[in-house]
Amino acid sequence: MCTPIPGTSTPSTTSVAPQARTMPRIGDKAPDFTAQTTHGEIRFRDWQGDKWTLLFSHPADFTPVCSTELTELAKRNKEFEQRNFKLVGVSIDSIHSHLAWVENLDQILKTRLPFPLIADIDKKVSELYGMIHPGESSTVTVRALFFVDPKGTIRAIIYYPLNVGRSVDEILRVCDALHTADGNAVACPVNWKKGDPVIVPPPKTEKEVAARKALTNVDRLDFYLIKKSL
Ligand code: BEZ
Repeated sequence: MCTPIPGTSTPSTTSVAPQARTMPRIGDKAPDFTAQTTHGEIRFRDWQGDKWTLLFSHPADFTPVCSTELTELAKRNKEFEQRNFKLVGVSIDSIHSHLAWVENLDQILKTRLPFPLIADIDKKVSELYGMIHPGESSTVTVRALFFVDPKGTIRAIIYYPLNVGRSVDEILRVCDALHTADGNAVACPVNWKKGDPVIVPPPKTEKEVAARKALTNVDRLDFYLIKKSL
């Protein structure tokens, strides 16, 4: 069904025993692959183009929680597009099952999925991305989310178990936070939402301490904890 692109599955240069590296991590290059999807065959990096990508797994087709998640992602797809994000789902199901489920979701929940679903019947993508957690299930993928930037770097990863549906609000919040942090060289504090004050990164040298002391129009709680509005 899909083929990992040689040389792309172990991108880190850190010396870790191969058997210990079962899944890509934040800061790694997203492993490339070709796969059959409901929108035709894709090579992940080519399909991604210059967009951010949310590669997410769901446990299986024709399951209730997954049905609610995928149709909610579909209904809010425009909100992802506004953030320059493309979505692609993956599960260990055949292309025939995916196609039938897409039709069924359209019929019962009146929602057409605008994004492709990868048919990962041979588990290549799921294993490449560490989406199978045997302690949870050795036959289906957990609810994984990989946020990949336009350069192909994994910027955030979230995992949920089989029995907890994801929050689309939280996923969009992470998209906003990544854009805000990148665009302004800041960090986003607890419970941050778009428009809230952000954190000035803590100083790493005495020179940076002095520079932060000189900042005006900031909420300075201490030399290392400074908030500002954008
Ligand atoms: C669900 O999507 O409903 C589901 C999938 C696997 C295990 C439990 C629930």
